[in-house]
Amino acid sequence: MYNNVIIIGAGGHAKVIADIVRKSGDNLLGFLDDKKEAGTAFFDGFVLGNTDSYREYPDARFIIGIGSNEVRKEIAQKLKGASFYTAIHPTAVIGEGVTIGEGSCVMAKAVINADATVGAHCILNTASVVEHDNLIGDFTHISPGACLAGTVNVGDGCHIGIGATVKNNISICSGVLIGAGAVVVKSIIEPGTYVGVPARKGN
Ligand SMILES: CC(C)(COP(=O)(O)OP(=O)(O)OC[C@H]1O[C@@H](n2cnc3c(N)ncnc32)[C@H](O)[C@@H]1OP(=O)(O)O)[C@@H](O)C(=O)NCCC(=O)NCCS
Repeated sequence: MYNNVIIIGAGGHAKVIADIVRKSGDNLLGFLDDKKEAGTAFFDGFVLGNTDSYREYPDARFIIGIGSNEVRKEIAQKLKGASFYTAIHPTAVIGEGVTIGEGSCVMAKAVINADATVGAHCILNTASVVEHDNLIGDFTHISPGACLAGTVNVGDGCHIGIGATVKNNISICSGVLIGAGAVVVKSIIEPGTYVGVPARKGN
C-alpha cells in the first residue's frame, strides 16, 4: 500500500525528497509553499497551495522539505493533527535496532548503524554516516558527507556541516552549528558555532 505524500516547501531540498518519494513507490500529490502561487509547476509536480491548505488533505502524509531547522520546527508545530511521512532513500543503509522519528528524511547512501536513534524532522543528508548507538535529537541536520562515530549524542536543532567529523563518545548540546569540514574531538556544552580542526567556538 502506497502513501499519498505532500512536501512542504518548493526549493532544492524539496526536490531531493520528491525524488525519494517516487523511488520509494509512494504517490507525490504535490508541494505546499507560502511563497509560490497554487498551480505553479515545480520540479516534476505542482504547488497545491500554501502551508495552511494542509487541512484540505486529511488523508495525505506530510514531510517538511526545508533545510532550515528553525523553519522546519515552526511548520511542524503549525501542522496540528497532520500525519508525517518519513523519507528513506532506497540506497540508504539502516542497521538493526535503528529508530527514525516522523518527518525525518534519510538521503541517498546515508548509513545509520545499529541501535542509533534519530529524532523527528531530522535531515540525514547524502552519504552522511551516523554510527552505532548515536542519539540524534529532533530538527537536527547532518549534512552531506558528515561522519559521526559510535555513541555520539547530538541535541535538538543542531546542524553538523558538510564533511564534518565527530569523534566517538562525544556529546553535542542542542543549538550547535558545526562548520563545514570541522573535526569535533571534545564534547560541546554551549550552543553556538564551532569551526576548524579541532573544532573551536567561533564568534
Ligand atoms: C561556519 C559557517 C556557518 C560560517 O558562516 P558565516 O557566519 O557566513 O561566516 P563567513 O563565511 O563570513 O566566514 C567568517 C570567517 O570564518 C571562516 N570560516 C567560515 N566557515 C568556516 C569553516 N567551516 N571552517 C573554518 N573556518 C570557516 C571564514 O574563512 C572567515 O574567516 P576570516 O574572518 O578570517 O576571513 C559556514 O561557513 C559553514 O561552514 N556552514 C556550514 C554549511 C554547510 O554545511 N552546508 C551544507 C548544507 S546541505
